[in-house]
Order: sequence, then structure tokens, then C-alpha cells
Amino acid sequence: MSDIKTKIKLMPNGPVIVEGNFEVFSADGTEMAQGKGMVALCRCGASASKPFCDGAHAKIGFQG
Ligand code: FES
Repeated sequence: MSDIKTKIKLMPNGPVIVEGNFEVFSADGTEMAQGKGMVALCRCGASASKPFCDGAHAKIGFQG
């Protein structure tokens, strides 16, 4: 049985999905969110609610 508490999954042409316990910080160290469960982080750069995915990757045809 695995001891991994957090799972990170790169979605094809979409966000990074983080599942488990998480904390999200800005570059200057300011905490932006924390929680337990699932969060989708933008990796296309087009989200209007960064660092979170808002579905804009589909509109811009993000490939990654
Ligand atoms: S990955 Fe979804 S809006 Fe950027």
C-alpha cells in the first residue's frame, strides 16, 4: 500500500489536477488556497482565475 498523500496528474491539453492535501502559494510566498480534495491548476496561461483552471484551455486550443 502506498504512503502517497497527494496525487498530481497532468491532463492532456488541460490543467494539472492535484488531489489530496494541498496548499497553493504565489511566487512571493503568499498563500492563495489550501484544502483537501481536488483542485485544477492552469498550465495554459489563459485562465482568468489563475492559478486555477477556468476551462479557457479548451477555448484557446491549448496543446500540452
Ligand atoms: S489549463 Fe485550464 S484554463 Fe489553463
